[in-house]
Amino acid sequence: MSLLCRTFPRLSVRSFYSSFLLRTCVRKSSLQTWNSSSQFGKTCMRKNLGGVLQLSVGISGSCGLLWFTFGRRAECLKKDFYQKHRSAQISATTNSDHSMSIREFLSMVWKYIIKEHWILIFAATMSALVVAYCSIVIPGMLGELVDVVAKAYREGENHTLGNWWESCQKTVFSLMKMYGIQSAFTYLYISLLSSFGERSATTLRMSLFNSLLQQEVQFFDSHRTGELVNRLTNDVQELKSSLKLVISQGLRSVTQCIGCFVWLWTVSPPLTTFLGVTVPSLIGVGTFLGAGLRALSKQAQEKTSEACAVAEEALANIRLVRSFAMEHLEQEEFAQRAAEAQRKQESLGQGIGAFQGLTNAALNGVVLATLVYGGQLIWDGKLAAGDLMSFLVSTQTLQRSLSQFSLLFGSLVRGFTSGQRVFEFIERKPLYPLKGGTQIESSFLKGDVEFKNVTFSYPSRPDEVVLQNFNLRLYPGRVLALCGPSGAGKSTVVGLLEGFYRVENGRITVDDHDITELDPSWLRREVVGYISQEPLLFNATIRENIRYGRPDATDAEVEEAAQRAHIMEFASTFEKGLDTKVGERGVGISGGQKQRIAIARALIKDPHVLLLDEATSALDSESQEIVQRYLADASKGRTTLIIAHRLSTIRQADQIAVMVKGRIVEHGTHDSLMREKGVYYGMVQQERAAGDYIPDKLEEALLIPPSEKVGGASVSPPPA
Ligand SMILES: Nc1ncnc2c1ncn2[C@@H]1O[C@H](COP(=O)(O)OP(=O)(O)OP(=O)(O)O)[C@@H](O)[C@H]1O
Ligand SMILES: [Mg+2]
Repeated sequence: MSLLCRTFPRLSVRSFYSSFLLRTCVRKSSLQTWNSSSQFGKTCMRKNLGGVLQLSVGISGSCGLLWFTFGRRAECLKKDFYQKHRSAQISATTNSDHSMSIREFLSMVWKYIIKEHWILIFAATMSALVVAYCSIVIPGMLGELVDVVAKAYREGENHTLGNWWESCQKTVFSLMKMYGIQSAFTYLYISLLSSFGERSATTLRMSLFNSLLQQEVQFFDSHRTGELVNRLTNDVQELKSSLKLVISQGLRSVTQCIGCFVWLWTVSPPLTTFLGVTVPSLIGVGTFLGAGLRALSKQAQEKTSEACAVAEEALANIRLVRSFAMEHLEQEEFAQRAAEAQRKQESLGQGIGAFQGLTNAALNGVVLATLVYGGQLIWDGKLAAGDLMSFLVSTQTLQRSLSQFSLLFGSLVRGFTSGQRVFEFIERKPLYPLKGGTQIESSFLKGDVEFKNVTFSYPSRPDEVVLQNFNLRLYPGRVLALCGPSGAGKSTVVGLLEGFYRVENGRITVDDHDITELDPSWLRREVVGYISQEPLLFNATIRENIRYGRPDATDAEVEEAAQRAHIMEFASTFEKGLDTKVGERGVGISGGQKQRIAIARALIKDPHVLLLDEATSALDSESQEIVQRYLADASKGRTTLIIAHRLSTIRQADQIAVMVKGRIVEHGTHDSLMREKGVYYGMVQQERAAGDYIPDKLEEALLIPPSEKVGGASVSPPPA
C-alpha cells in the first residue's frame, strides 16, 4: 500500500485511511503482506464494497460529464433570426458572426497571449510541476511514517520514545521540508498564474478595444453596443478563466492520468487493456448522445442570454420605457423569454439526468465486468487478489482526474466560444483605414467641397437608395443651408462628408482631392467641425467635454468658447461651474444646454469646414437667436453647411439648397427661392401656418396669409 501511496499522487484521505486500515488488519491477522492472501483480498474487497460502489458511481458520473462536454469541437454560435425585429436584434447580441477552427484559435492564443506572457506561463508551469511533484512524493513519505507507527505498535512496550523519534525524525524532517517547498511553490504558482490571467485579460481587452475603435461606422450600425461591451468584459473573463484552469488543473490532471495509467499497466496489462478498449467505446457512444445535449445546452444558453438582453435594453432605456409607460410590456417580454429559457433549462436538466442514469448503468457494468474478468485472472493465477483491489482503488485517482478533465473540458468549450468572439473582432480589419492618406497644408486649404453625381445606400439597407445622382457645391468661406423634409438625406450628406461611409458612385472632393484619398483622421480632426443632430456628451465635466474638441486647448480658450456658446449662463448657476459633471449620455442637463456644449466643442478646434446638423433646434427662441448670432460670427471665413428644420434660421445663408428624396430640387438664395414659389416657398408657408416661422417685411408681401390654403407649392418631390 505504501508503494501505492508513493506511486499515486494525491491519494484521497479516504484511500489513505483505508490503507491505514489495511495495515492494521495485516498486523491483527499476523500476515506479512496483505496481498499475498487471496482470502484477505476478498475480506478487503468486502470491506471496501461500499467504496468500490462509490468508486464505480464516481467513475460513471465523471465519465458522463466528460462525454457531455468532450467530443466534437465546440461549434460557433450562428445567427438565429427571429420573426420579430427585436428578437433579431437581441439574438444578434449573443451570437458570433463566423466560426473559427481549433487551429486558428490556437494560433490566436499564441499570438495574443502566450507570445507576450510566455515567461509568466513558463514560471507558473514550472512552479505547478514542483507542487505536483510534492503531491506525488508526500503520500509515499506519509506511508513510511505510518509504517513506523505500525512497527512501534507491533513492538509494543519495548519501543521507547527515544527510539521512536530516532526512527521517524528523518522522515518527519523530510516531510516538513516537502511541505515548506509545496507551500512556497503553491504561493508562487497561484500568484504567477493570477498575474498571467490578469495581464492576458488586459492585453486582450486593449487589443479588442483598439480594434473596435478602428472599425468603420457601418460596423457599429450592425453591432449593438451591449454586444461589444459583452465581448470586452464577459468573453475576455471567460477566456481568461479557461486558460488559467488549463494551466493549473489541466497540468495536474494530465500528470495524474498518465501516472495512474502507467501504474495500472504495471499492476495488470490485460485488465488495463480491457478498460482501454471498453471505456473509449462507451465514450464514443456517449459523445454521439452528448451532441444532442450540447445542442440543447446551447439553445438554453441562448434563451437565457436573450432574456438578459431584454432586461439590459429596458434598463438602459429606462427613461423611454417610463415615458411610454411600457413597464408592463417589458415585464411581459422578459417573463416570456425567461419562461422559454426556463423550459429549455428544464429539458436540459431532464436530458442530463437521463444521460447520467444511462452512463451510470453502462459504467457500473464496466466495473462489474472488470471484477468478473479480474476474478477470472485471479482464478487462472495471473493476478493476485490484492492487485485487483489496488487496481480498483487506483482507478479512484484516475476517476478524480477524469472528473477534473470533465470540468476542464466544460470550461475549455466555454473558453473556446468566448475566445472566438473576442478574436473575431480583434482580428477584424476595418473596411477603410482610420489613418493614412493625403493631408493638405493648413495655409493652402480652401475648404472647397463638392458632391459630384453621388449615389449612396447605407450598407445595412442596400436596397434603399438614399442619395441619387446627388450634386452639391460648398464654396470656400460661404454658408450653404440644406433643408428638406425628414428622411430626405440631409444628415447622410453630412455623414458622407465626415467620411463615415464610402459612396458607391460619384465623388466627393475637398479642394479637388477625392475624399477617399485624404487622411480620414486629419480630415475629422483638423478640417471638419461637426455638431450632430443628437449631441452626445461624455460622462465628464463640461470643461472636459468642450476640451474634447481640442485636447491641447488652454483653460482660457475653453472658457472663451463656453462664453461664446452661452454656456456660462447656465454653468455659473452650478456650484462647480464648468467643472460640473454632466451625467451619463448628458443626463443632468437640458437638451439645449447639451447643444451649446456641443457647439463649443466643435468650434474650439477652429475647423475649416463647419457642419451644423440642426445645431440650434433644441434651444428656445431667445437662446436660439443669441447662439445663432454666435454661429453666424463663427462661420465667417469658413465653409459652412447648415441643416435646419426651422427655415427662419437659414434666411441669411449665402445659398439654400432644398433636398427631397436624395436629390437637390431647388437651389438659390432665400429671396430667389421665395419668388420661385416652389418647394421652399411651400415649406415656409407650412411653417408659417404652424406658427414656427417669423417672416420679415419682404416675405410678408410674398407670403400668402396663413388662413389661405397652400396652392402651387408642395413639399412632396416633383415628378422625375
Ligand atoms: N445608419 C443608417 N442605416 C440605414 N439607414 C439609414 C441610416 N441613417 C439614416 N438612414 C436612412 O436614410 C434615409 C435618410 O436619412 P437622413 O438621416 O439622412 O435624413 P434627414 O434628411 O437627415 O432626416 P431628418 O430631417 O429627420 O433628420 C432615411 O430613410 C433613413 O431611414
Ligand atoms: Mg437628419
